[in-house]
Amino acid sequence: MGRIRILSDQVANQIAAGEVVDRPASVVKELLENALDAGATRIRVEVEGGGRKLIRIADNGHGMMRDDALLAFERHATSKIRSSDDLLSIATLGFRGEALPSIASIARLEMETRAEDEAAGTRIEIVGGKVMRVDDAGIASGTTFTIRDLFFNTPARRKFLKAESTELSHVTALVTHYALAHPDKHFELHSATHALLIAPPVRKPEERIFQIFGSETLDQLLSMAAERPFDRAGLPEPPPWKRDEDYAAPDPGFLRISGFISKPELQKLNRNSIYIFVNRRLIRDRLILHAVSEAYRNVLPPTSFPVILMFMEMPPHEVDVNVHPAKTEVRFRQQSLVHDFVRDSIRNTLIQTRPAAGFLAALTANPHATPSLLPSVSPMPGEPESMASVDTLASEPPPGSEEIADFKLTYPPVPPEEVKLPFVEASLAPGNGVTPMARHACDAEMPAQEEQVPSLNSLASLKPLGQLRESFILAVNDEGLWIVDQHVAHERILFEKFLREREVERVQHQRLLMPLLVELLPHQMVLFANISAELERNGFEVEPFGPRTIAVKAAPVGLEGKELERTLMEVLEHSERENQAQNLETLRTRIAASIACHSAIKVNMPLDTVRMEWLLAELAKTAHPTSCPHGRPIVLRYSWKDIQRAFQRI
Ligand SMILES: Nc1ncnc2c1ncn2[C@@H]1O[C@H](COP(=O)(O)OP(=O)(O)OP(=O)(O)O)[C@@H](O)[C@H]1O
Ligand SMILES: [Mg+2]
Repeated sequence: MGRIRILSDQVANQIAAGEVVDRPASVVKELLENALDAGATRIRVEVEGGGRKLIRIADNGHGMMRDDALLAFERHATSKIRSSDDLLSIATLGFRGEALPSIASIARLEMETRAEDEAAGTRIEIVGGKVMRVDDAGIASGTTFTIRDLFFNTPARRKFLKAESTELSHVTALVTHYALAHPDKHFELHSATHALLIAPPVRKPEERIFQIFGSETLDQLLSMAAERPFDRAGLPEPPPWKRDEDYAAPDPGFLRISGFISKPELQKLNRNSIYIFVNRRLIRDRLILHAVSEAYRNVLPPTSFPVILMFMEMPPHEVDVNVHPAKTEVRFRQQSLVHDFVRDSIRNTLIQTRPAAGFLAALTANPHATPSLLPSVSPMPGEPESMASVDTLASEPPPGSEEIADFKLTYPPVPPEEVKLPFVEASLAPGNGVTPMARHACDAEMPAQEEQVPSLNSLASLKPLGQLRESFILAVNDEGLWIVDQHVAHERILFEKFLREREVERVQHQRLLMPLLVELLPHQMVLFANISAELERNGFEVEPFGPRTIAVKAAPVGLEGKELERTLMEVLEHSERENQAQNLETLRTRIAASIACHSAIKVNMPLDTVRMEWLLAELAKTAHPTSCPHGRPIVLRYSWKDIQRAFQRI
């Protein structure tokens, strides 16, 4: 007998399940996506034992007729595509026809479903891939899946499961993010004892953020919206001689980006708070993550990450979703267009709004203070898992509330706000075990925009009062009291000026009276040879002077003596650390940041009024007056409102 056999469907399904279902959250993802594809407007998720014991998802979607209900568990059975051409324009979240047979092969599954126009519904019971029973069911239209004892027949997989609370946090993160992507739908998530999320439909995405996370988080986010047409290049078109008279070239469609990005003061330890949706599908994508880092470069410290909720909409033919069995990765047809547009849209949002950091926010900006805004879905490979548990989501205190105790003077007692209950549906009947977690969902109304968003655009109107310890400029305008770090403010001004000059190859430089001799280690000589051309373009004139020494004959204006030497050493050190992987743009901004840092005015330096005015006016003209090139805040504002509150006048 030969050695090769065809595997049974049962085994094939379990193998597929290995790719698609690696933890309870992935079951929830598949079933949620099916419910959304079925046009559901209400989705209720219930989990027990972190999802291992029970997952139940009920939707009010279009349901299935008896035949379809049975067919749905066959491998490659789908109602969503018909031919391979359809793969080019997938408008649904599912399309592989794999999820249900995979899940059914590794759990005890029960499905109840009824199509709207059918008199009776269907109940199907499957255990480890075997159909045990098919009955009539008298149920409302829609579909309910109950999955018990996940991985009961695949012990190897069961061993990989984490603690119940970890699995639950993954499920919570997942449902939360789908709820954010679909604000017009009703989502609920319950554990055996708690209501973890109750989000009735709302009109706008920001209302949903408020529902789920409360106003503190909302205050730290900037809303973003941008669109551009795709390039026509590469769209299939008939050759000119085959076109009709009224032939119209295919419309390349638009790339639309909307969502929320964090102000520079909100900093995270890892990328777990970056959520990207492409056509409402939650994905992890290196290209987009790179664009996000680029946008925040020189705004956030290199080891910090922002919070991003970004929804990208594009014609289905611009994105290939058939890249990974779990459908969490995609490939864009016009990669660099998408990358650059994401980067530029985020940058523009940061530049236009120029948010000013409040005192309290800046105090807690240290990324170590809050590990992650949200529990993670799946950390990027090589990154630590998010430390956030469901509990942090449940009752996340106002950012930095521990620190507030040490900062009593500036933390005003907030007057009690009038509590309204606009989300009537969510006001739960007593006794159904609702914990404070549901509080955000139903407590207070979206606060009206009482105060205009603090913006650094008003920097230009600042009047300097004087200096604090010859290091910080105190200034006022109608909006409140401002404190400006003179060193980092000047650093930001010089940094941007320098990059501008560099762009037109006109960096102002000065010749030194005496060449400055700098001694290098042998490997630094090699590094120096690599970057000397770039240094030259940045206003340096440096030549080798003997085997281990270089002579600096000219340098950018403002850089002298010891500072000049330090700058050179810093640039060399950076290129050493980053190795060859460094690209030219990174090197350029590094050089600019070093030069700016070392030629900027220092702390402990008296400044007269004219100088302070000049500094504030120049700062107002910069693109990012929020933070210095290393990501530290430049300006803090104590708003008029905060002052009034602190003095208990309002
Ligand atoms: N909640 C639901 N309501 C109505 N129909 C459903 C529901 N869940 C599944 N179906 C039907 O069952 C079919 C099979 O579902 P399954 O998730 O296995 O595959 P799919 O969604 O088509 O593709 P994928 O494997 O990519 O998820 C679907 O195509 C759909 O027609
Ligand atoms: Mg599916």
